[in-house]
Amino acid sequence: MNVPEGNTANAIIRTENLSKAFGENHVLRDVSVTIAEKSLFAVIGQSGTGKSVFFKTLIGMLKPDSGRVWFKNTELTSLKKKEITAFRQRFGYSFQNAALFDSMTVEENLSFPLIEVLGMKNRSKIKKQVTELLEWIELPGIELKWPDELSGGMRKRVGVARALILKPEVLFFDEPTTGLDPVLSETINNLVVRVNKELGITCVLITHDISAAFRITDRIAFLDQGYMIADGTPEELAKSEHPLVKDFIRIAIGGLTK
Ligand SMILES: Nc1ncnc2c1ncn2[C@@H]1O[C@H](COP(=O)(O)OP(=O)(O)O)[C@@H](O)[C@H]1O
Ligand SMILES: [Mg+2]
Repeated sequence: MNVPEGNTANAIIRTENLSKAFGENHVLRDVSVTIAEKSLFAVIGQSGTGKSVFFKTLIGMLKPDSGRVWFKNTELTSLKKKEITAFRQRFGYSFQNAALFDSMTVEENLSFPLIEVLGMKNRSKIKKQVTELLEWIELPGIELKWPDELSGGMRKRVGVARALILKPEVLFFDEPTTGLDPVLSETINNLVVRVNKELGITCVLITHDISAAFRITDRIAFLDQGYMIADGTPEELAKSEHPLVKDFIRIAIGGLTK
């Protein structure tokens, strides 16, 4: 096991000069970030700028061309495919279209990872975990509902619950509020905050909801054309002199008053 250089005492994920290209399209260029354990970290930037690709390299779904990814003291980029698969259980994901299985009830959807991944067999234990989690996401009693009987916001929360059921150490959210109205977006943002604060799970959030990112996160990384052009606390980013960051913040939230 290699130990990365630098102060990583508090880091749960760390990237070092991560680069990824698809042919001539250089999507990530030397991206180095440190995500602190139990923090709420956001990646922002324009559409098509490499945010989702960055996420996928963090979780081993995409292999970077160069650079490294560390999860605590393990270099994920040095693992074999099989080892990465085993590691992924420690991550949860809630992607934009994190589809529930339509042919399964909510209870079956949430039980599925417990049975398939953890191999749990005790029906009453499984049921208890599902019930408790539905209560926790404030949707008690919907065990027997089918996904298409739920509103978009409810489906999204059940999707988050399904990612939570395996008690991940990090939960990744890729654009969780895209396509939701402001009220529902707020519900989801609040859920992300609760996952982070109440469950102590590190949350990594991709969002183009800049105002939410500034309100709820501990640290923000700004990705532009593959470069991480700024990385700091919301307060630090708000004071950034980088023209693009300044412009982005001004346009997105019309002047930040924080
Ligand atoms: N599997 C892939 N093969 C080829 N190009 C890809 C692939 N995934 C993403 N890209 C390209 O990488 C760039 C960044 O995409 P993405 O990370 O999805 O952007 P976003 O910041 O909107 O999430 C885009 O130009 C996209 O077309
Ligand atoms: Mg994306």
